[in-house]
Amino acid sequence: MENRAAGGNDVKEADPNRASPNGAPQPPVDERLQRILDKALYADGSPEAQKLRNFLNGTWLGEPLHVVLTDLPVGAWTVAMVLDLLDLVLDRREFALAADASIGIGLVGAAGAAVTGMTDWSDVDPPARRLGLIHGLLNLSGTALFATSLLLRRKKSRRSGCIVSAFGYAVIAYAAHLGGKMVYEHRVGIDRTDGQVFPDDFVAVLPESQLADDTPTRTIYQDVPVLLVRRGGRLFAMADTCSHFGASLSEGRLVENAIVCPYHSSRFDLEDGCVLDGPAVHPQPCLEVRARDGQIEVRKASVPSP
Ligand code: FES
Repeated sequence: MENRAAGGNDVKEADPNRASPNGAPQPPVDERLQRILDKALYADGSPEAQKLRNFLNGTWLGEPLHVVLTDLPVGAWTVAMVLDLLDLVLDRREFALAADASIGIGLVGAAGAAVTGMTDWSDVDPPARRLGLIHGLLNLSGTALFATSLLLRRKKSRRSGCIVSAFGYAVIAYAAHLGGKMVYEHRVGIDRTDGQVFPDDFVAVLPESQLADDTPTRTIYQDVPVLLVRRGGRLFAMADTCSHFGASLSEGRLVENAIVCPYHSSRFDLEDGCVLDGPAVHPQPCLEVRARDGQIEVRKASVPSP
């Protein structure tokens, strides 16, 4: 797990397994690779680097961009397999040309999927981190096989090219299976606040005296953690569970009118919970909040009528 300090510079938590001059065990390879990648992607922690990451993560889209882009190579290469089959059976040049074009389109999509996937993976915590590395390496191998196939086809070794792309498709299919495991088993990219239930009517969740100014405070409503903030004479409330990987936002820090997650530094607007900086892509559910009779009360934010 990592932690980025203000200004976007990377600060990793102390790791008992970290390599040391006295021969202590090295961190696992997936962790070392992740550190290198994270450092490269964050560069100097500049706002431009953060903007680029926001784009690659899909913060602007409200969904992981990687998940959208993976459809392109998988779809294009599936079409290529079908066209290769038709070419084999019917021996028509149009099918061969269309198959080659589909492989080319898939390669372009795979480049986008690879860049966005690596960006997402740089913030994935164990146990999904290693699975994500295998998923990525398999995808890169499958892409290399399709690129080789295209070269062979251009060099008139069509039969060999078809065999290589069939291998590539098998590798990509297994990589997609692992990607599914990451999402459905390890909940990577899933909104961690999904399913949390907040009260329809105002309920007291904390004595007012226990909410200090400018101090993110966690309280609980029916097993669901709620973040309370009193800042500039105003009260704010939102789900305390970070939508990205479930960190407690109450352990984060306030920057202007936003809360910064302690795990991967996603920044959420206190006003409406929208994501100002990723890697989170899903907004935080916000609550209505008021002080009554010495108590802080919250309820589900009303949805404006259309
Ligand atoms: S848990 Fe990753 S940004 Fe909050």
